[in-house]
Amino acid sequence: METDPKIISSLPKIELHLHLDCSLSLEVVKQLRPHITEKEYNQSFIAPDKCTDLATFLRCASSGIELMQTEEELRAVVKDLFVQLKRDNVIYAEIRFAPLQHLGKGLSSEEAVEIVAESANDSINSTGIKAGIILCTLRHYNEGQSFQTIKLVERYIKNTIVVGFDIAANEAGYPIEAHKKAFEYAIKKDIPRTAHAGEAKGAESVWDTLRYFKPQRIGHGVRSIEDEELIDFLVNNEIHLEICPTCNIQTDIYKEYSDHPIDFLYNSGVSVGVNTDARSLVNVTLTEEYIKLANVFGWETEHFYKCSINSLSHAFITNDAKEELKQVLLSRYSTYFVKKIA
Ligand code: ADE
Ligand code: ZN
Repeated sequence: METDPKIISSLPKIELHLHLDCSLSLEVVKQLRPHITEKEYNQSFIAPDKCTDLATFLRCASSGIELMQTEEELRAVVKDLFVQLKRDNVIYAEIRFAPLQHLGKGLSSEEAVEIVAESANDSINSTGIKAGIILCTLRHYNEGQSFQTIKLVERYIKNTIVVGFDIAANEAGYPIEAHKKAFEYAIKKDIPRTAHAGEAKGAESVWDTLRYFKPQRIGHGVRSIEDEELIDFLVNNEIHLEICPTCNIQTDIYKEYSDHPIDFLYNSGVSVGVNTDARSLVNVTLTEEYIKLANVFGWETEHFYKCSINSLSHAFITNDAKEELKQVLLSRYSTYFVKKIA
């Protein structure tokens, strides 16, 4: 198999699960806070390789969020992320963030969305990377905050690159009740939906999420393996899992990379995709994630192609846009297994 990092790096990639506020490179942090040292950056912006749990991991996100409170800061962070994506050969990304976390220095929630969407557009034009923005509500938000977020999606999905709605943050600490109204609204308005679940809690949490939020995709969803019936449901209903393996090791859902169920899920016929979740907090690129999958599970280019196609099929974009991106994938991957995909 081509575990040559250069080849894996050169593969065109699709990333559907990526948090803007957890993906600040050392370069952009230095740009915004020139006096920060590399050591301070490593301590404040990268979570430890092993956290006690998801809540501990998420606490490390606060440094990034604190640095993203003005127009200048938001613009710099978006631009920086596209530079990282270009290096990783990402051709399509769905970038998520929670607008209500960026109001600390006087921005309105509308301004936060407009700034991120406009900056992303600038970077789309300069890099050629295609992208969409997903707006997140957070588990610890109340019903009003969640509803405010879905109303932002409704407003901006019409004529910006906002493409969908998500719920993130600590699944274990906060049940779904406060968010039912927002998701009911999203369902009624046919707004594309994904939801973090089956990460800090087990299969029952995924079932609840599927029942009440009716998402097309689940963020993580790895603990679905704890219920065979749930796996069947995911397969039969083509629910896509946005899998972020290194992040799951870091939050201690699984002890070692080799314990991760991604290979089992792939072989069970579940639509899985590979993602970083958070490029600085997790300290991983998609290329590095692919290399780990190749080394630990013997994944080959066919696996990466299949995962990319799975992600693309579930992306919140038009069929025409999907077809265009598929041709980009095909043109590169066909070098490796031309007969099988012909
Ligand atoms: N926000 C950033 N990373 C997250 C994760 N892994 N789970 C929930 N919320 C998050
Ligand atoms: Zn996430």
